[in-house]
Amino acid sequence: MNFGEQRNLAEEKRQALFLSQLKECIADREEALGRRVTYHITTMGCQMNARDSEKLSGVLAEAGCEETEGEDADILLFNTCTVRENANEKLYGHLGLVKHLKKEKPGMLIGICGCMMQEADEVVRIREKYRFVDLVFGTHNLWKFPELLYACLAEGRRVIDASETPDVCRDSMPVRRKVPFKSGVNIMYGCNNFCTYCIVPYVRGRERSREPGEILREIRRLADDGVKEVMLLGQNVNSYGKTLEQPVSFADLLRRVAEVDGIERVRFMTSHPKDLSDDLIQAIRETPKVCRHLHLPLQSGSSRILKQMNRRYTKESYLALVDRIRTAIPEIGLTTDIIVGFPGETEEDFEETLDVIRRCSFQSAFTFLYSRRTGTPAAAMADQVPPDVMADRMQRLIGLVQELASRAADRDLGKTVPVLVEEKDAHAPGSLTGRLGNNLMVHFPGEESLIGQIVDVELTESRGFYYMGRRRQ
Ligand code: SAH
Ligand code: SF4
Ligand code: F3S
Repeated sequence: MNFGEQRNLAEEKRQALFLSQLKECIADREEALGRRVTYHITTMGCQMNARDSEKLSGVLAEAGCEETEGEDADILLFNTCTVRENANEKLYGHLGLVKHLKKEKPGMLIGICGCMMQEADEVVRIREKYRFVDLVFGTHNLWKFPELLYACLAEGRRVIDASETPDVCRDSMPVRRKVPFKSGVNIMYGCNNFCTYCIVPYVRGRERSREPGEILREIRRLADDGVKEVMLLGQNVNSYGKTLEQPVSFADLLRRVAEVDGIERVRFMTSHPKDLSDDLIQAIRETPKVCRHLHLPLQSGSSRILKQMNRRYTKESYLALVDRIRTAIPEIGLTTDIIVGFPGETEEDFEETLDVIRRCSFQSAFTFLYSRRTGTPAAAMADQVPPDVMADRMQRLIGLVQELASRAADRDLGKTVPVLVEEKDAHAPGSLTGRLGNNLMVHFPGEESLIGQIVDVELTESRGFYYMGRRRQ
């Protein structure tokens, strides 16, 4: 065992000790209150944050707390995102409401964690202007949660921890999954790409991959626990394993994950176009358990803007890549991300984006207005696009995306496909919602007992972004 591993193990034991002390502390509170101590986690942002929240939830459940639906809980955590300005505004909006909640419930503990808390200015703002917030920590020290929460509860003091040692024992934290039959699995953390608009590399740190053996052990445990679908998570999964002592490619990892008994579906997020290898296309093609869905963020269709964004591919190379993927796997569903109004984007640049969208027939696209993030190179660029121009382009983009998505969905109409039944259809009693391999959803009549199973469903009607269907036995 090397020095780093020894330190991690020692820290794992220390945190386990804090967790057992936390348990006693929660038991005391429970006795004083005459009821269970409740918690709620409000999660913003991407799948990475969703997975982190399952770890926070794991610690709280293990400590003896009970999860509640609403924010009116004894322990309330906000797991924040900062990728765009509106993510930050969302947190401050919540805090305004919560301040009143805490006035009526003085024993309440309010904590904020996640990507926004990796920004020094935001931490200062919370510390000075939001004095009712009791606990602050970032993504790097998530693994310290038992210790920090214990200090807060047992010693009754405000804890603001900005230490910067990532991942020490993050992968051995207890986990409480949101659903029993599917799970995210972190295969890597951080990002090294520094796209010029993006704050993620600053708040999530440098790219680091987990050892494949460790990932496979986690997935085998999940399979034993009833998980049928795993989603491999990383900001750029296509560069997985390059920095490991014994390098492993993402394609090989995918093949090995698919071999785990009990796992029926494998997904992954996100693929950076610059690193998507032909071997990966081959691995998807020859591995039936790998879902026929690829999220391939384009960001812009203009090679000039792509260069300014530091994306390291061109319009032509992106189109050629999509061609290779579609030739090898014709049934694949492609989705993408687009940023509208990056600094210097002209009408001609925007037309290039529309052109790529027309040529790729995406199944759906997440469209974002460019948001200026302090500290990123793009924030200092000249020619920031005026808001009205951005809004106009956004409207045209959404119109086109919807039209093409609806056409793409029509192609599979009438087919019978396997779907993973995920939940009751909230809008129609007696109806269920399931996910196709290509990530689209279908609503169909069925018994609740089918939730968590993979069943065959005929797609009888297309509603653009989703289907209506009926079960086929
Ligand atoms: N690692 C992923 C993306 C993570 S962020 C990737 O590279 O594909 C998710 C999406 O948010 C990005 O794809 C981008 O479209 C969008 N985004 C990131 N920073 C943004 C910003 N400053 N303004 C608007 N959208 C942004
Ligand atoms: Fe951000 Fe680019 Fe990294 Fe994605 S690849 S997280 S967009 S810097
Ligand atoms: Fe947001 Fe952090 Fe994800 S900034 S998009 S939650 S990595």
